[in-house]
Amino acid sequence: MMEYYLTWHNQAKKAYEQAISISMPETYLTKPNGIVFIGMGGSGIVGDFVVALAFDRLNIPVSSIKDYRIPSWINEDTLVISISYSGNTRETILATLEALKKKSKVIMISSGGILKSLSEKYKVPHINVEKGLVPRAALPSMLFTVLASLEKLGMPVVSRDEITSSIENLKLWCSSDETLKESTDIAELFRNSIPIIISCSRFTPLAYRLKNEFNENSKIPVKVEVVPEWGHNDIVGWEKPVATSSMKCLILDCNENMCCEILSFAGKIISETGVECKTLKLKGKSILDKLMYGSLIGGLASVHLAKLRDVNPIETKSISEYKKLIVKLISIS
Ligand code: F6R
Repeated sequence: MMEYYLTWHNQAKKAYEQAISISMPETYLTKPNGIVFIGMGGSGIVGDFVVALAFDRLNIPVSSIKDYRIPSWINEDTLVISISYSGNTRETILATLEALKKKSKVIMISSGGILKSLSEKYKVPHINVEKGLVPRAALPSMLFTVLASLEKLGMPVVSRDEITSSIENLKLWCSSDETLKESTDIAELFRNSIPIIISCSRFTPLAYRLKNEFNENSKIPVKVEVVPEWGHNDIVGWEKPVATSSMKCLILDCNENMCCEILSFAGKIISETGVECKTLKLKGKSILDKLMYGSLIGGLASVHLAKLRDVNPIETKSISEYKKLIVKLISIS
């Protein structure tokens, strides 16, 4: 698992170079009324990341759906990007079939599976991602495929320069001692604790990415809070909190003035209850850099923690159990 994370720069580079050379159908080149991502878990987070990246770059709505249904506004003018690493996730397939029924411009991304067969049946573009990984470790493969596809469609959410420097930075971070230290420190912090991850609104997907990593790799429950919303509800919970001895808090500092002020206020309130708080400074210049840096540290920390807890980071038995249920509930003909 460690090896997967430490070669993320290669994954990102390969995925971007592959997807940028794929041509898109002519009809997909007209500006859509919105972009919708469909996907669950480790594949679904890709859509969340793009929503964060598109926030101040695109002037059409971009949303990420983690459901087997799609909202009624989606129509033939909507670009739908359906992502499932395995290609077999039932919720993703059902929601994608809905979009195909509505004649949306659908692009599918997977390492194979039913999604790939569907793309052949419906004659819509499909992009392969690197096989043989676990979905959560394939984040760069899926994300950089999407970034290249959006660029091809004339809707870049990050510039070429940002892509290139993010890949270079990833390479640097993957081999740096600081990365190792930062991630082992976080694993130590969360040993025998319930982690609380706090971020600002723009970095909500990163906070959830870390939560999911600690859930799936380290097998522990995690709480996520986001400022400024935190100051309108969760803050009150710290007036008379319970189980503070079991909690430890990680603050994701994006280095933007107002966010830093609010996050340090949150840290102060929480640490006054006796809960230890640590700040992770997100390295890099661009939002993409910071998302990738945070994801790398989170991934490595969750694997270190798995080791400390003597659990297998790769296995996710409960997800397989859940998938058996969902396969029974959603039959694909
Ligand atoms: C497992 C993982 C899960 C899966 C999710 C959806 O590594 O990360 O969260 O991503 O169960 O499966 P896929 O990604 O195959 O659509």
